[in-house]
Amino acid sequence: MIRKATLADRPRISEVRLAVRENRLSQASVAKVDTTADWIFEHGAFWVWEQGGAVQGFAVADPRDGTIFGLFIHPDYEGRGIAHALLPRACEDLRAAGFSAATLTTGAGTRAERFYRANGWEETGRQDDGQIVFRKSLRAGVVP
Ligand SMILES: CC(C)(COP(=O)(O)OP(=O)(O)OC[C@H]1O[C@@H](n2cnc3c(N)ncnc32)[C@H](O)[C@@H]1OP(=O)(O)O)[C@@H](O)C(=O)NCCC(=O)NCCS
Repeated sequence: MIRKATLADRPRISEVRLAVRENRLSQASVAKVDTTADWIFEHGAFWVWEQGGAVQGFAVADPRDGTIFGLFIHPDYEGRGIAHALLPRACEDLRAAGFSAATLTTGAGTRAERFYRANGWEETGRQDDGQIVFRKSLRAGVVP
């Protein structure tokens, strides 16, 4: 089931975020990620996948800058199409906020890189730290 998260889901969302094996949160990013999550809980939406009585994945956009802030699926629930189902919700939030394209960054050589390429995201460059920058048009009918 997909639903919008409430503040009560926040501890489990953090657990899922910390359970992943790739694109793990660096110690240096923790504070910034927390601040962004605070803002999104108040003004935006974390879209969560609930199964087996718990949140097993989430997708979230930052409507301030047109980015996908996070897409994380618990390792026990990967490969079932959950990311595929959740990502359009976050993209929809960006379109509703007036963006014509979504962007995100992800680690090179990861499952996520393969997932985004397979779903029509295009690489637009690399950051200094090697992260790939992806972009996808949000025109009607082409949201992933
Ligand atoms: C990358 C990540 C989000 C993918 O999540 P996922 O739920 O395993 O992805 P999905 O199952 O939707 O898609 C994976 C593949 O499984 C296939 N699949 C398996 N079962 C499926 C089903 N029942 N329905 C639809 N697709 C299914 C899909 O076709 C898909 O193939 P594709 O990538 O060629 O389209 C997840 O592995 C993850 O959280 N990784 C660690 C954190 C991370 O790197 N996040 C991204 C940071 S930007």
